[in-house]
Amino acid sequence: MSRELTPDERDARVFRIYEQLLEMEQRLIPTGLHVFGRPPEGKDLADLLAMVASFDRPELGVRSLPDLIAGGLGLPRYATLLEEGGGEERLRGREQVEALLHEAVQRFLRSGLNREECAAFLARSAGVSEEESGRVLALLARVAGQLAGSEEMDALVRALRGEYIEPGPGADIVQNPEILPTGRNTHAVNPYTVPSQAAFRKSEGIVAALLERSRNERGRFPETVGMVLWGMDNIKTQGEGVAQALWLMGAAPRRDAMNRVTDVDIVPLDRLGRPRIDVVMTVSGIFRDLFGATMEVLDRAVRRVAELDEPPEWNFPRKHVLERQGRGMAWGHAATRVFSNAPGAYGTNVNFLLTGGQWERSGEIGDLFVTRKCFAFGGELEGVDARELMEDALSRVEVTYQNIDSAEVGITDVDHYFEYLGGLTQAVEARAGRRPQVYLSDTQTPAARIRSLPELVRLETRTKTLNPKWYEGMLRHGFRGVAEIEHHVTNTFGWSATAGAVDEWVYDGIAETYLLDETMLRRLRSLNPHATRNLANRLVEAGARGFWTPGSEVIGRLREISGELEDRMEGAAAGS
Ligand code: BEZ
Ligand code: MG
Repeated sequence: MSRELTPDERDARVFRIYEQLLEMEQRLIPTGLHVFGRPPEGKDLADLLAMVASFDRPELGVRSLPDLIAGGLGLPRYATLLEEGGGEERLRGREQVEALLHEAVQRFLRSGLNREECAAFLARSAGVSEEESGRVLALLARVAGQLAGSEEMDALVRALRGEYIEPGPGADIVQNPEILPTGRNTHAVNPYTVPSQAAFRKSEGIVAALLERSRNERGRFPETVGMVLWGMDNIKTQGEGVAQALWLMGAAPRRDAMNRVTDVDIVPLDRLGRPRIDVVMTVSGIFRDLFGATMEVLDRAVRRVAELDEPPEWNFPRKHVLERQGRGMAWGHAATRVFSNAPGAYGTNVNFLLTGGQWERSGEIGDLFVTRKCFAFGGELEGVDARELMEDALSRVEVTYQNIDSAEVGITDVDHYFEYLGGLTQAVEARAGRRPQVYLSDTQTPAARIRSLPELVRLETRTKTLNPKWYEGMLRHGFRGVAEIEHHVTNTFGWSATAGAVDEWVYDGIAETYLLDETMLRRLRSLNPHATRNLANRLVEAGARGFWTPGSEVIGRLREISGELEDRMEGAAAGS
């Protein structure tokens, strides 16, 4: 036992737990899959609208409703109230603001979208000007109306008839309400507009939070960050990831007379207030296909920055290029930082290697990542195999990072996050000789927030995988819902295998919730015996690979469940 806590320490700890519980409670999670043509309703709709109302939208002249409420109550800005470790008063303020926000949205929906009534409520209870709230409510009324009049099914039928489908932007509703109505043909962006002004402005805060977080844990700035850039995400965010890469290096997009981003400007060091960070960029095949011009801009940024006459301890790209040159590497090669798949190839295959259980030694996953992603772009290299250059670049990486663009898809929802960020992390670990710090941005709140990978795995486990609200929502979809649960477990396993980022209690919780509970086991088994068997097998494999050390009776029971299901399915096959 550790020594007893003083009352103050105990209060601080209770407070911290309270803060974390509040955060989990507030998190927007999907409660079930999207059913084509069926709009969200009830609490799901209310939560979604509250989230839409929580962001400033200067293009619409709309201010964030939580900010308006906080202002009206004489509290600090909402983003300030959200900061971690802000103390009890701020936390109370946050709760007060959020309670009023949700109350207002629920009243608005109950009243059949009566703006006057809701504006009067906000004026009365929070001193919000009716003119300001009127603008937010007009936006919410539009969003609610467009959601209710879903055209998805109609558009699908028209598409199947070969008719014309109107185009619309792709993003999530919170980020860009202009995607409504859904059921349109998602279009991309003009790659020359990336990064947008808004994305670039936003990148400063996120990068500052990333570097601050890393520095707090390491005691100094990381010299090199390894980034994952995806195509769809940069479409949806107008290039947030691209903007972050540029800002890390201290470069800004330069727009030509046609307003196209074709070059970069250098941000002076005194404006930056920190060293220029070296960035190794691994971009997806989709990004490579869509953002050729952007890849040139990113490559140019590295080369421009490395050429600056600045002290190496303030300019890490330059420091590293000079070091390589000193060892006889050509300048052009030493400054190569943009890597992707071979032309015409996509993906890392890490997900397939992993789910097939086909790897034996640690490091194999990272090797595959490099094999798939070591094609260099930039300078005179146009998609040529440059394994040595990539390995050299990875050997200096201290932080791996990916921008998460949306509340809709999290790091345990799909296999692509561990495939990319996990694959990169393991590739770095083997080449740098130590595991990098792994971070992701979390854009669910208006305050720029960076989370470590283990932190985000915990948060997703608690709010999704082990949350009855989440799994009951999935189980409403029957067969498919069980498959979704199994995917979550496999994706969680992916974070163990690539980055050692999963606590053992996560596996305990999964086993207890889904398989060791007889009632739940019966439900899963009858809905989808295949996925249930895979789930049991995945937990057994997690034990065998040392990601988890359950007791032998637990493993015995899991094997038994798997064996029974196997027999049953074979029996069913033989009998049919
Ligand atoms: C992309 O948009 O680049 C992407 C999409 C899915 C998986 C991986 C990458
Ligand atoms: Mg996919």
